Amino acid sequence: FKVLSVVSEVYPLVKTGGLADVAGALPAALAPHGVDMRTLIPGYAAVLGALTRAEPVHHFDHLFGGPARLLDAEAAGLRLFVIDAPHLYDRPGGPYSDPAGVDWPDNAERFAALGAVASGIGRGLVPGFVPAVVHAHDWQAGLAPAYLHYSGGWRPGTVITIHNMAFQGKFPGTIAPQLGFPPEAFSIHGIEYYGAVGYLKAGLKLADRITTVSPTYASEILLPEGGMGLEGLLNDRADVVSGILNGLDTVAWDPATDDHLAARFDVKRLKARDANKAALQRRFGLHEDPDALLFGVVSRLSWQKGLDLLAENIGTLLEMGGQLALLGSGDAELSGRFSGASEAHAGRVATWFGYDEGVAHLVQAGADALIVPSRFEPCGLTQLAALRYGALPVVARVGGLADTVIDVNEMARGIGVGTGVQFSPVTAPALHQALRRTRALFQDKVLWRKLQRNAMTTDVSWQRAAGEYDRLYRTLAAERGV
Ligand code: ADP
Ligand code: GLC
Repeated sequence: FKVLSVVSEVYPLVKTGGLADVAGALPAALAPHGVDMRTLIPGYAAVLGALTRAEPVHHFDHLFGGPARLLDAEAAGLRLFVIDAPHLYDRPGGPYSDPAGVDWPDNAERFAALGAVASGIGRGLVPGFVPAVVHAHDWQAGLAPAYLHYSGGWRPGTVITIHNMAFQGKFPGTIAPQLGFPPEAFSIHGIEYYGAVGYLKAGLKLADRITTVSPTYASEILLPEGGMGLEGLLNDRADVVSGILNGLDTVAWDPATDDHLAARFDVKRLKARDANKAALQRRFGLHEDPDALLFGVVSRLSWQKGLDLLAENIGTLLEMGGQLALLGSGDAELSGRFSGASEAHAGRVATWFGYDEGVAHLVQAGADALIVPSRFEPCGLTQLAALRYGALPVVARVGGLADTVIDVNEMARGIGVGTGVQFSPVTAPALHQALRRTRALFQDKVLWRKLQRNAMTTDVSWQRAAGEYDRLYRTLAAERGV
């Protein structure tokens, strides 16, 4: 049973966020179900450089401005199809923007090519791999279901997964004629979005099924705030919208085998965790105090993540004798606020700016609690890692955060099932209360241990999600007579 996953980033080859983690984990999660998933990805320099095997299986004389090849390839244990199109992808910088962080001016063409090649494979371009389902992720792959829809003749089933509604891939209507769709596609029923071309909109309109990465986010996107302009379309299609909660790569994230830690531990050897707290404090230049409540953050620094609310609560944290170790990259203004706080409160507030896997693991292993105050969060993976590493998540009650953390409320405490703290609304005062509540829990050492054990025994693996995707793919294939 063949499925083509279409995506613009995949861990460990190229990653800007959780999308890469999910795309990287899905094939292995689905293999036990008999699903042969291959991943179609643009041939960025980092991808081409990592291939351990590559065979050209198709040649394009002209793919959006130049010749290109389709490679059947392997890297890091992944079976890939790579679009080797140097004029589109082989350049320094990130997958979406140049080294200065400015979006590539030809992103419309770069990701139209991804959709068009996906559609080609969907219709049999590679005879040895004709998928029953094409699974597109986010706006970058949004045109894949659209090309398949307008291709005429037999086509596989199509699914689009929304990982983040805030990025919709909207381009000027003037590019429409270059995309190779029939003229009627440029309408409200197709790829057109208020006079522009909407890549995510096109996918949501034309895919057979729409999923997002948590059940709560699946409800939130049907409301104006969460739908970000697409709620009308989504409500019209509500019968094909569902939420499938992401899992975590429990091999990469395993405190019992993790090379990045000062000491390995598991639920039966929780005492060994203390060495990681000390190591984290040393690494970040915090006072080496085993009794201070140490809060961690691992995050992109952007409006979505709500870390300005934490910046407003530095005082709260200090009053309770707490510490903060923040690992983040992104917004300069926010970085400035946190580095200001770290200078003013050396030894108690510390920052690490940049992207660093090893440090991320150490924060999860050493912090007592992980703060995730997101304004919206389709799923979120850092709170899953935190559960697995016994750093109790303190989270905004939105999206996947609401679905994965069990608030230690009175009744949860009564039956002993809490795994963290949720707060709502997503405001600085509500976060203030959550931090105070966390402090109260932390003071009860016996209770805190119990909560850590609850967290660490929560099933955060891909197992459940894999079953749900498998069912979805097979239902869809059966509907299309595959
Ligand atoms: P998003 O995709 O919105 O950024 P997720 O929580 O789904 O949020 O995924 C974030 C991923 O990126 C996780 O794997 C997390 O560990 C990682 N990450 C985020 N910021 C950093 C950082 N500064 N250094 C290392 N890893 C990071
Ligand atoms: C997006 C979302 C995040 C989610 C990730 C993977 O980056 O912001 O919440 O976990 O995609 O689905």
